[in-house]
Amino acid sequence: MAQIRFIQPDGSEAVVSIDNGTSVMLAAIRNGISGIDAECGGCLDCATCHVYVEEGASGLLAPPQPEELELLGSVAAPRKSNSRLSCQLKLPLSITSLTVHIPEAQS
Ligand code: FES
Repeated sequence: MAQIRFIQPDGSEAVVSIDNGTSVMLAAIRNGISGIDAECGGCLDCATCHVYVEEGASGLLAPPQPEELELLGSVAAPRKSNSRLSCQLKLPLSITSLTVHIPEAQS
């Protein structure tokens, strides 16, 4: 198990538990975290599950695959170096906590 801390654009926070191997997007949807629309359900077809991964953590995560990198070009909020699509973001066993920031807009 790991814990994901979601930080909303207004600074409010929520922490949820996640099984390693479950995507950050599913953790958000299952726990009623607002701001992650995930319109395609994780099929890499919508770019509405955009998050910003905490600085310094990106190197601990599996890097984005070419399909994710391409779709990150379609996100509604500014794309940053730490932008990820949360449906593709799964925590390895070596990580027990992760903070992600939810962008201002998903579409
Ligand atoms: S949920 Fe659609 S790309 Fe992630």
